[in-house]
Amino acid sequence: MRTVLITGATSGFGKLMAHAFLNHGDRVIATGRNLKERKDLFIQERALFGERFLELNMDVTNLSQVKEAQEEILKQFGHIDILINNAGYGLFGALEDLKDVEIRYQMEVNFFGTVNVTKTFLPLIMKARGKVFNFSSVFGFMGFPLTSLYCASKFAVEGLTESLRGELAPHGVQLCLIEPGGYRTNFGNSLNWSTQDDSSFKTQFQNYKNLHQKIASRKPQDPSEVSYGILKLSLKRKLPMRKVYGKDATFSHYFRNFTPSCIYFSVMDFVFKKIFMRESN
Ligand SMILES: NC(=O)c1ccc[n+]([C@@H]2O[C@H](COP(=O)([O-])OP(=O)(O)OC[C@H]3O[C@@H](n4cnc5c(N)ncnc54)[C@H](OP(=O)(O)O)[C@@H]3O)[C@@H](O)[C@H]2O)c1
Repeated sequence: MRTVLITGATSGFGKLMAHAFLNHGDRVIATGRNLKERKDLFIQERALFGERFLELNMDVTNLSQVKEAQEEILKQFGHIDILINNAGYGLFGALEDLKDVEIRYQMEVNFFGTVNVTKTFLPLIMKARGKVFNFSSVFGFMGFPLTSLYCASKFAVEGLTESLRGELAPHGVQLCLIEPGGYRTNFGNSLNWSTQDDSSFKTQFQNYKNLHQKIASRKPQDPSEVSYGILKLSLKRKLPMRKVYGKDATFSHYFRNFTPSCIYFSVMDFVFKKIFMRESN
């Protein structure tokens, strides 16, 4: 039986992946924040999957919680076959308007959270010659205005993962980047839209929010496509470097990677001007 550790398993892709792997017959360790105060969150999983399901309190930014979780898993199971670094959220807004504490927290969760968990659990993953899936995004390979910190955090995850792939290959550990487009999770509701009353970026900010609402109202893609996709991927002998999910992300991936840079940026300059500088009626 494979032992699977998922971060941010309290919602969205994380919770769905917990179900996908449990239904497949794996043992799942679902981790999340403030689980003591959220006792009802995993009622169903506890009842249905008994000893194959374990929940552990773990805020990925809290090193002592990460260490405690590692000690518990070492004691109970001794190794990890699959680690899924999924925990994350989005900070949107113009750089000039973001508070320092918001900037640092975005990197703390999305990037340093991935570093903390991967580094701490690495000995257990190496023992099993396991697999690591790191959640990036379309925003991990395309820069986007008013999303600079979210993009920076995901670009950083991309650099980390590509580098570790070669570093850990001799130890039998494989890594894969997950790059989803827009999916129907709680991501949109938990976005931190940050601005200031006297912002010089009012028009861009409002246009971006409007665009976001418009996209969200157009029934975003079904997230189980990603959770079951990752389950299927985990069963492969050799993992690809990256896996893109969604029609939007696939189009963006080809456009970004197969268009000469000068054409790509000319098109994007035009598109961004159209989207962000439109005068609101
Ligand atoms: N949905 C999309 O369209 C989309 C697209 C591309 C990439 N992604 C990426 O997919 C991943 C999962 O997001 P989602 O779409 O499933 O959104 P979601 O439903 O909001 O889930 C995010 C999860 O991350 C957890 N989390 C946030 N900060 C944490 C921390 N400090 N420690 C531990 N857990 C933390 C949340 O926990 P709480 O319940 O405690 O808040 C929640 O369980 C993220 O990395 C996101 O960037 C999402």
